[in-house]
Amino acid sequence: MTIHIGAKPGDIAETVLMPGDPYRAKWAAETFLTDVKLVNEVRGMLGYTGMWNGNRVTIQGSGMGMPSLSIYVNELIRDYGAKQLIRIGSCGGMQDHVKVRDIILAMTSTSISTPSKGILREVNFAPCADWQLLERAAKAAREKGADTHIGGIYSSDVFYDERPDLNEQMVRHGILGVEMEAAELYTLAARHGCRALAVLTVSDHLLTGEALPSDERERGFADMVDIALKAAFDR
Ligand code: HPA
Repeated sequence: MTIHIGAKPGDIAETVLMPGDPYRAKWAAETFLTDVKLVNEVRGMLGYTGMWNGNRVTIQGSGMGMPSLSIYVNELIRDYGAKQLIRIGSCGGMQDHVKVRDIILAMTSTSISTPSKGILREVNFAPCADWQLLERAAKAAREKGADTHIGGIYSSDVFYDERPDLNEQMVRHGILGVEMEAAELYTLAARHGCRALAVLTVSDHLLTGEALPSDERERGFADMVDIALKAAFDR
């Protein structure tokens, strides 16, 4: 047990999928895994461990934003031995050619700040995805026929953004979408010698104002889970 995770030693798999929403963790575990066991419910941040195609996997909610994700990822890596961590979440589209429902595989993540700023200080560290996970996710997405974009994203600290000028600069620099977690996930994975990737569905669009209705979010979410599992385990 750690401060925020009630799992017993050995309850957490080396591969962890991380949706922001704990109820998505429950849905994904019940939909995709067999032999599912609830391993964490501290603060309602549900985590499940089960089997997928003979591989052990944990699906653990991260909460929203980098400070929340940082707590769970630190404990998963340092106390439970997690080795590959894949965020599965939503993002806002930031380019005309990126459409609502499309998948984004985040090659890099730009941010103003992350919880790691305190140790990196004057350094503008470049958080990037694990190449092998990214390559396998790209293959899985291609085989599904999913409209997929691979490139840089923006991990923001705010959902209700009052600096349109910053978003303009992100759009100008080719950033595909905005979410709130990946930069810290990639930074922590780099620090601890782990592998990380963010697989995202475009749920809304900053340029068009379009948003995915809630019933369709589930379908997009299923595609992401499938791509993440194949990226983690297909050889
Ligand atoms: N901003 C930040 N995070 C998000 C968004 C957004 O527009 N959409 C989904 N996650």
